[in-house]
Amino acid sequence: VSTAGSGPSRIRVGAGVSGYDVVVGEQVLGELAGLLGDGVVRVAVVHAEGAAVARVAAEVLGALEAAGLRAVLVPVPDGEAAKRAGVVTDVWSTLGRADFTRSDAVVAVGGGATTDAAGFAAATWLRGIRFATVPTTLLGMVDAAVGGKTGIDTAEGKNLVGAYHPPVGVVVDLATLATLPGPEYVSGLAEVVKTGFIADPAILDLIEAEPEAVRSGAGPHTRELVERSLRVKAAVVSADLRDSGPREMLNYGHTLGHAIEKVEGYRWRHGDAVSVGMVFAAELSSLSGRLDRASTDRHRSLLDSIGLPTGYRAGAWADLQQAMKVDKKTRGDTLRFVVLDSIAAPVILEGPDPAMLEAAYAQVSR
Ligand SMILES: NC(=O)c1ccc[n+]([C@@H]2O[C@H](COP(=O)([O-])OP(=O)(O)OC[C@H]3O[C@@H](n4cnc5c(N)ncnc54)[C@H](O)[C@@H]3O)[C@@H](O)[C@H]2O)c1
Ligand SMILES: [Zn+2]
Repeated sequence: VSTAGSGPSRIRVGAGVSGYDVVVGEQVLGELAGLLGDGVVRVAVVHAEGAAVARVAAEVLGALEAAGLRAVLVPVPDGEAAKRAGVVTDVWSTLGRADFTRSDAVVAVGGGATTDAAGFAAATWLRGIRFATVPTTLLGMVDAAVGGKTGIDTAEGKNLVGAYHPPVGVVVDLATLATLPGPEYVSGLAEVVKTGFIADPAILDLIEAEPEAVRSGAGPHTRELVERSLRVKAAVVSADLRDSGPREMLNYGHTLGHAIEKVEGYRWRHGDAVSVGMVFAAELSSLSGRLDRASTDRHRSLLDSIGLPTGYRAGAWADLQQAMKVDKKTRGDTLRFVVLDSIAAPVILEGPDPAMLEAAYAQVSR
């Protein structure tokens, strides 16, 4: 179903009073004020300071003021540099100086790094004030801005400090993707592809029909791909609000992916690492007698067709294994992988034979 040109869509996450809407469309920043709920007086618009996102934040500020709210802009460093304790301390100071109370709100405008850091500030100020997100990267739209995980990095690792603090609303304005650099967009597509493999094969068909066009936010299927991915994340998150069960399937490709990020010192984009991780997980699915050869190879050909990496250094296996052992998703000493029984049928593979892991890695190493 094509939704191009139609009005905003609403996707519900969770249920009851803690449920929230994700509004998706073009030029929909005006929807934000209505999602914040009653009684809000002040809104801190925490945004990545780069020019493109700052322009979106200024538009958000205008829309909130037009709705009668008292909004202030709070710039934070671009990208991962926002996820530092010092940045959160600065946001707290701003909230304190502006007399933010329990009924006020924080809105985050930017990529996943910005929404994670701003969300953590909102989660901790007065033990939690209202929080809404306006993701401006594809990864932010389909993943980071929805689900309630917030957090920052420390010297010891990424995302080690954080809180569950679900937003009261999310506004996905696809028009903001126009300024996103191509490689950032393509990297975000890895999470979209992941969603296709674990839950919604129609995503795979859409991408395979026009791989070239899909590589840009201006492509014909952007809205449908974002909405389909969001529906899956919304359903999974709704069934597992605190990440104790079904949500683990969203980790497809991430066990090796996180290890690659770590070995690369976080100079690789998340989606690029997850792309290699998915090819590895598919090979593991095949070697453990689950996934058929055609579906396994489909990973490589699809990811390759949109410009995502499908291989990694042959000599890195020892380092990757070490990194996987200390991943925070690991339980005790047992490695866990999401693998596929078939497309859209993820299962957990616990403690696979090291020889099988090595054989799967041989299929992705170059
Ligand atoms: N909370 C979660 O559930 C969750 C899920 C996935 C990822 N994450 C986190 O998200 C982060 C990665 O997010 P990301 O990939 O969105 O990267 P990012 O937030 O680092 O943004 C990438 C870069 O693009 C810039 N940018 C953002 N939007 C732009 C736009 N529209 N035009 C031009 N430039 C723009 C940013 O300022 C930044 O420099 C990581 O810190 C990761 O841990 C969190
Ligand atoms: Zn991810």
